[in-house]
Amino acid sequence: MSTTGPGIDVSPANDVDIGRMLDVEAVRADFPILSRKINDRPLVYLDNAATTQKPRQVIAALTNFYEQTNANVHRGVHTLSIEATDAYELARTKVAKFINAPRPETVIWTRNTSESLNLVAATWANAHVGEGDNIVITAMEHHSNIVPWQQLAARKNAELRYLAVGKDGLLDMANIESIIDSRTKIVSVTHVSNVLGTVNPVAELANRAHEVGAVILIDAAQSVPHMPVDVQAIDADFLCFSAHKMLGPTGIGVLYGKYDLLDEMPPYMYGGDMILEVTYEDATWNDLPYKFEAGTPNIADAIATGAAVDYLSELGMENVWEHEQQLTAYGMDQISSLNHITIFGPEDPALKGGVISFVHDKIHPHDLGTALDQQGIAIRTGHHCAMPLVRSYGVVAAARASFYVYNTKTEIDALVDGIRETERYFVR
Ligand code: ALA
Repeated sequence: MSTTGPGIDVSPANDVDIGRMLDVEAVRADFPILSRKINDRPLVYLDNAATTQKPRQVIAALTNFYEQTNANVHRGVHTLSIEATDAYELARTKVAKFINAPRPETVIWTRNTSESLNLVAATWANAHVGEGDNIVITAMEHHSNIVPWQQLAARKNAELRYLAVGKDGLLDMANIESIIDSRTKIVSVTHVSNVLGTVNPVAELANRAHEVGAVILIDAAQSVPHMPVDVQAIDADFLCFSAHKMLGPTGIGVLYGKYDLLDEMPPYMYGGDMILEVTYEDATWNDLPYKFEAGTPNIADAIATGAAVDYLSELGMENVWEHEQQLTAYGMDQISSLNHITIFGPEDPALKGGVISFVHDKIHPHDLGTALDQQGIAIRTGHHCAMPLVRSYGVVAAARASFYVYNTKTEIDALVDGIRETERYFVR
């Protein structure tokens, strides 16, 4: 039951079985923005794959840092600098534990997933990929995991190979033995597609990569925020994600790498803190992780990322995943019950994360997104930074609803009612 008019009740009290794993009502109370009205309607925020909202604990970590601790790290002997350094390094330790990295030094702070991917392409891959070698990615990658490899392959006269995506939205694993071969140097794949929601078999891909002596880089931007991820269990060589998609601030991301790989890699950027010694003629590099953190880092946002990790750990990542699986199953059921809708990606909700991309054959996605916004509902529309994939479905844009810890089934009802309401103007 729901209405889309003012006063719609999107409280989780309406959700009978949601809330078994998470106390969604308590979670929602932690997010100030969720009490906003958009166009006089309660906000229904379903654009979590683009960025998530922030709980007051994360906002407080930022405010508290600037009000109480602000100083530069690794540089001062004064109290504030020591406290800032301790808080910055504690946040790194929290992230390491969150993904089961064996040592905190294997967690590098970057700006975001894109920077982490570019870092590996520009350092490890630049040093190891040569003429005639190949790089393997998938046909469901975000632009950030396509373009750096296109550029590197062109520069090195190497081949860029794609693992295909089937009509079912799943990765075609049938030919991995021939595609990932003895000339493969790196396999770089998304863990969860930001368009299809598909959860890819990254451990199996890591295994194949290692059989041929290649390394695997995992774009975990859409997995680490939503499910338990253990870098050692997957045997990931590199893995990256962004804080802003997991309740943390924008402008901060993570690159995890195996210690020995990171240790032998050349720096990505040069500057303060990443050096051990500088003479007028030359320089030597600092130890991990600082070798990859040139200049004053994003201290406050790293600390707030630690607060986001605390928040998610408190909820329990198994519970987060279960909650989203329920929402996804319900969303697939409800959205597919509408007329004129085609959903992209796996039909079985158990094979996907909390992302549902779809097209309506009578309403352009941008019109739908704009009409839903009039009803307070935020979704993403467009190519989702995955133009080749979206075009492979014969469209240039799609609508996408994506879920997180504070979403409810009632909000999915609001989305479905909102689509029906929009049809009144577009479908004759
Ligand atoms: N990569 C983000 C998305 O999928 C921005 O929306």
